[in-house]
Amino acid sequence: MKQMIIHGGKPLQGDVWIGGAKNSTVALIPASILSRTPVTLEGVPRIADVDNLMDLLSEMDVVSDFHNTTLRINPEHIKMSPLPSGKIKSLRASYYFMGALLGRFGKAVVGFPGGDDIGPRPIDQHIKGFEALGACVKNENDQIKITSPAEGLHGATIHLAMPSVGATMNIIMASVTAQGQTIIDNAAKEPEIIDLATFLNNMGAVIRGAGTDSIRIEGVERLEAKTPHTIIPDRIEAGTYISLAGCIGNGICIHNIIEEHLDSYLAKVEEMGVVIDATEDSLFVYPAGDLKMTQIRTASYPGFATDLQQPVTPLLLSAKSGEGVIIDQIYPKRIGHIEQLRKMGADIKVEDNIILVHPTAKLHGTTVSAGEIRAGACLMIAGLMADGTTVINNAGNILRGYDRVQEKLRLLGANVKIQDVPEK
Ligand code: EPU
Repeated sequence: MKQMIIHGGKPLQGDVWIGGAKNSTVALIPASILSRTPVTLEGVPRIADVDNLMDLLSEMDVVSDFHNTTLRINPEHIKMSPLPSGKIKSLRASYYFMGALLGRFGKAVVGFPGGDDIGPRPIDQHIKGFEALGACVKNENDQIKITSPAEGLHGATIHLAMPSVGATMNIIMASVTAQGQTIIDNAAKEPEIIDLATFLNNMGAVIRGAGTDSIRIEGVERLEAKTPHTIIPDRIEAGTYISLAGCIGNGICIHNIIEEHLDSYLAKVEEMGVVIDATEDSLFVYPAGDLKMTQIRTASYPGFATDLQQPVTPLLLSAKSGEGVIIDQIYPKRIGHIEQLRKMGADIKVEDNIILVHPTAKLHGTTVSAGEIRAGACLMIAGLMADGTTVINNAGNILRGYDRVQEKLRLLGANVKIQDVPEK
């Protein structure tokens, strides 16, 4: 087990560079198998999810090589093989192999995806999409088996019941080579979806409307990567460092940001009193003065991201007075961090899935556990704020999504160490 040890209470300052977006990367790697030629991805974050996806690629004889921030994937000798278990269970995004294999081979056998413990995460909309394209989908022994009719997949109009990121991406991957036009209505509008569409369009796909709620895909016969693709910056990593800077920063400059991707988040933290100066692709966060309490309700993009609900919580704890409210409409059960924060002395509780936050003058270090990525990010910030030593067990969950986190925190002056310890 990975353990993160933080000796906190020390103001941090300096510069931090944001890596490529995890939630783009984990879709683009599976999408690479749609190409008949080698793919180069630039700006790839050093996160455990990338290693797991590379292992899954190798199960299909797809060779990949990750050097600095460049990931080369060669799918020229891909063999169609079932991906029943193993690494499939280690990350949610392995479900993108369903759409990618379907688009490439017209069939897929993929184990039911694993991933973060943040409450129920059904994939009915993905399956509805595949079926609308003509595929037959069976769920047998914890595996999803998908087959196309003899004549291949055909375009269809698919109305998503909710703007699901995963379903939108999976349907795009499955339909890029289907015959005719596919329309996804009520599509998710996240920037990562535009990134996927850009990546595929540069390989010859015809996808229009990504970033709006209606995406149209004209099927093409074959995709070939010709130029390297640079992954967009991770808006959730950026938001996490902004929260950290607002809580315990003594002047932190965050680089490689697309500010527009953070609009609703920045509006909220600025309303709380965090002072931010924006330049072209950097944000300078001033040392925080008195912060005002606030209310947050998560929503699909461009609303306040569920993935930032936990990382922003320490900022609410830093407010001077009042009662803060956080309602996660996307994942109401994403509350595993609350009990851990309470162990650190936080005045916070949950009533009917509503998180109620009260100002907490000081947190104290103790042993906590990171149940999932963003809970881990929240506890990491809390640990940096707290007096004494915080030990975060299951810190592997933080490494699943945060690029070179120990290195970045140390550059800001944090006393932090990640170590391997035997599992009890
Ligand atoms: N939903 C369904 N049926 C479906 C699909 C989704 O009911 O078939 C529901 C979900 O239960 C949820 C809502 O629709 O309430 C939105 O889910 P969505 O499908 O958009 O989520 P996802 O694609 O599984 C991605 C990110 C998550 C992020 C959500 C929401 C990846 C790999 N994961 O998940 O990221 O929280 O979108 O923005 O892209 C994280 O990075 O910490 C993380 C969990």
